[in-house]
Amino acid sequence: MVESSDEFFEGKRPWSKIKDEVLEKYMTPYLAKVNTRGQPILLIDGYAGPGVFEDDELGSPLIMCDKAEERAKGNYHAIFINNKRKYHERLLKEIQQRGWSNSAEPRLGDTQLVLRDIHKVLKGQTVFLYLDPFGPTGCDFDLLSPFLNRNPNYSTELLLTMNMPGMHRLAALYWLLRIPVPKKALMLALPILFLCNLHIRKVT
Ligand SMILES: C[S@@+](CC[C@H](N)C(=O)[O-])C[C@H]1O[C@@H](n2cnc3c(N)ncnc32)[C@H](O)[C@@H]1O
Repeated sequence: MVESSDEFFEGKRPWSKIKDEVLEKYMTPYLAKVNTRGQPILLIDGYAGPGVFEDDELGSPLIMCDKAEERAKGNYHAIFINNKRKYHERLLKEIQQRGWSNSAEPRLGDTQLVLRDIHKVLKGQTVFLYLDPFGPTGCDFDLLSPFLNRNPNYSTELLLTMNMPGMHRLAALYWLLRIPVPKKALMLALPILFLCNLHIRKVT
């Protein structure tokens, strides 16, 4: 089923519950560990959403902040990116209501552009980047490479959600053709494979 972003936030579906449970369980030991490094911690949620679902379940930005308040209070800064104004404003309100505005900063913009700006001003912070886009695009290599190529003296952690059916189709294509697929073709192929996947699911 194709979901709009509004449908997505109507209520947390089972797969989103699992995803957020992984995030929550990951944050606790991660933050406890990196907080001992003594560097300021920068948390980034590139596809943040409004922070709460309509069934009152918490979304990823509030889960991240909640854990950071518990494990790294006073030593973290969080940036939560949304390209939809209504999600940005809702998240701003939720953060203000919890009194976290000094540490958490919702930003309105396109992740592809905002991440480039953030990377330019990075110093020695410990960085945690979470990317949970809709569909198979949104974590392309050009976006990730400045973070992957950061000086290894600094701690940089990336947590991504990926569309595995799309990946499996791509791997099958690669295996069938037995040729390396160029990056540009890959970026074109992924949304097509994803749509094929949805179409197959709809007709079966
Ligand atoms: C899968 S949802 C994220 C859900 C969130 N991680 C959670 O668990 O609550 C993806 C979000 O990214 C936003 N989004 C999509 N494309 C974007 C872009 N290019 N830049 C910023 N946000 C984007 C969508 O509006 C949506 O709110």
